[in-house]
Amino acid sequence: MTEAWGPDDEDEPRLRGASGPVRVRVPAKINLHLGVGPLRPDGYHELNTVYHAISLHDELTARRGDTLTLTMEGEGTGELALDDSNLVIRAAHALAAYAGVPPYARLHLRKQIPLAGGLAGGSADAAAALVACDALWGTGLSRDELAAIAAGLGSDVPFLIHGGTALGTGRGEAVSPVLARPTSWHWVVAVADGGLSTPEVYRELDRLRAAGAAAAPLGSADALLAALRQRDPAVLAAALGNDMQAAALSLRPALAATLKAGEAAGALAGLVSGSGPTCVFLAADGSDAERIAAEIEAAGVCRAARAAHGPMPGARVV
Ligand code: C5P
Repeated sequence: MTEAWGPDDEDEPRLRGASGPVRVRVPAKINLHLGVGPLRPDGYHELNTVYHAISLHDELTARRGDTLTLTMEGEGTGELALDDSNLVIRAAHALAAYAGVPPYARLHLRKQIPLAGGLAGGSADAAAALVACDALWGTGLSRDELAAIAAGLGSDVPFLIHGGTALGTGRGEAVSPVLARPTSWHWVVAVADGGLSTPEVYRELDRLRAAGAAAAPLGSADALLAALRQRDPAVLAAALGNDMQAAALSLRPALAATLKAGEAAGALAGLVSGSGPTCVFLAADGSDAERIAAEIEAAGVCRAARAAHGPMPGARVV
């Protein structure tokens, strides 16, 4: 934790932090493995997941201000509240309280990551706000300190501070990087019309499990981690898995057609991303990903399909 701003700072308050705008880019995440354990007494599910940050991103710009304000641009942002219920505003307040500085900034968000899509867009924006305000205010926290604040904002916010490929345990907030030789993986991201509520998808999974209608839980991520080390997309394809997929398909049966279209286009594997409804497909290489994206889009089974790659760094000043 840095020293609180005190009377000594009042003479030269602008010496700390940035005087100009701070621009932060933050990736979307997909889950290469999403093992969902039982519901815990605190209302969360125990997770065993492998997060992977991809090249679809949002951008947050922070400028000095006399209050804390947020504006947004991008598809669907009109639906989002701009008050204290917004995760970006909550992130700025949480950092300011931790560091003992006034929570003043003018924040502007450019959204590309679809809302409620299973790509952790809202969590990404919270991570971006922590990194942007840390630079703007000169609070100088470490990534680990920012990730600790992030854990209080949402289960997958800490991952979006770190980025890359990482194992997530606990409710997803305990993140450790997966060390692998650098390899780029190529993906197709098929965005659905409309979103799915994450708590609703978890509830549907619990219902399916209670009714004996869900597959056995995936459990540990060991096989996926071993597949990542082999650096062969066909091997990785066989190891991808998501316990939430059955629940997302149950709530949104049309996703089966999206998955099928990816398979027909020659994707090595397809799965629902997180709690959905976005579907992701693994491609052999970048040009394959472009071709598969075009074919899925032409099949009319989603709102848009885009090629992407990963791993990408977490929220960072650009
Ligand atoms: O942590 P976050 O606020 O993003 O979680 C949103 C909701 O998703 C939680 O309130 C809970 O219903 C569900 N959730 C869960 N188990 C997790 C993570 C999230 O049941 N590990």
